[in-house]
Amino acid sequence: MNESRAYRITIADSDEDFLCKDGQNVLRAMERLGRKGIPVGCRGGGCGICRVQVLDNGRYRTLKMSRAQISIQDEASGMCLACKLIPQGDLRIQPLGLLRKKLNN
Ligand code: FES
Repeated sequence: MNESRAYRITIADSDEDFLCKDGQNVLRAMERLGRKGIPVGCRGGGCGICRVQVLDNGRYRTLKMSRAQISIQDEASGMCLACKLIPQGDLRIQPLGLLRKKLNN
């Protein structure tokens, strides 16, 4: 892990962006923005509140996510949970569900 490296994460709907440190999960980086309206869930890959779609075949890895929230098929199509999403390059993401609603407020 390279501590000094950070990746740029762009939110598709708004074209807002923020930096995510190497090894940090996207939800944590989003919360550090201090932006109002980021829903706080379990942060453990279980509640599904932070569901996002990674666009443009971005490079990333994911940690363990609940299969009740993200099926194998969802995962194969780039859907994942931001609290378990670790970027390995710049990413463009589309927030889904509650996260999307809150970000659009
Ligand atoms: S915050 Fe619960 S799954 Fe991400």
